[in-house]
Amino acid sequence: MIKHGALYSGKAKTIFRTDNPEKLIMEFRDSLTAFDGKKKGEAQGKGYYNARISAKLFELLEENGIDTHFDSMLSDTDMLVDAVEIIKIEVIVRNIAAGSLARKYPFSAGQKLDPPIIIFDYKSDEYGDPMINEDIALALGLATGEELSRIRELALRINSILVSFLNDRDLLLPDFKLEFGRCDGRIILADEISCDTCRFWDRTTGESLDKDVFRFDKGDPVAAYREVAKRIAPAPG
Ligand code: TMP
Ligand code: ASP
Repeated sequence: MIKHGALYSGKAKTIFRTDNPEKLIMEFRDSLTAFDGKKKGEAQGKGYYNARISAKLFELLEENGIDTHFDSMLSDTDMLVDAVEIIKIEVIVRNIAAGSLARKYPFSAGQKLDPPIIIFDYKSDEYGDPMINEDIALALGLATGEELSRIRELALRINSILVSFLNDRDLLLPDFKLEFGRCDGRIILADEISCDTCRFWDRTTGESLDKDVFRFDKGDPVAAYREVAKRIAPAPG
């Protein structure tokens, strides 16, 4: 597989074209940002752990009947993925009140949310990823009603699969963010599922093992990401 020029460089990943128009390479970089890029950092090894975690969780979801864009790992940080048309909605699933939910609404941090809450944000740096509802998504032409229902259904199925897998590895999943894309008339899971896009808490101590370590200066982010990788995707050998 030949890696051509960069198509797009985001805050933590770069997307490259390949010699196959149906495949892209997603490179997980060591850069860390938070609060809409206002806080920036670099952490050696972070890209590798996020790639390993994402690959493992995509494989788990595929084994459980969820279509994802994941193809294979080409190196420690280069993931081969299907080229999809990204739907500009960030789908956030919440099982425990944390982060912006506990800040903006009268939930107490740590409160269990049963059934889980699904939130749609408009994926737009220009507008600061504002929360939207189904009417706004439809009026902006981001997706059809049928696609939004399918996305909700997939997000809930993905949540059940992840919660149960992580629970067996002593990890809680308070919330996480998903992105979906269109490919051959289907909606498939895209982007990443990693310590940058999920909250992972140690089930016993409640310790954060995710990007909150970087956001709120709680210690060494790479040590936290490494711990998650160790629990869910042990390195071979
Ligand atoms: P929040 O509590 O800050 O709204 O974050 C909810 C979840 O979404 C959390 O698991 C982190 C993830 N997330 C992203 O993946 N990208 C983002 O830009 C933000 C703000 C959150
Ligand atoms: N993803 C956003 C940023 O990198 C916000 C965050 O994760 O806190 O700035």
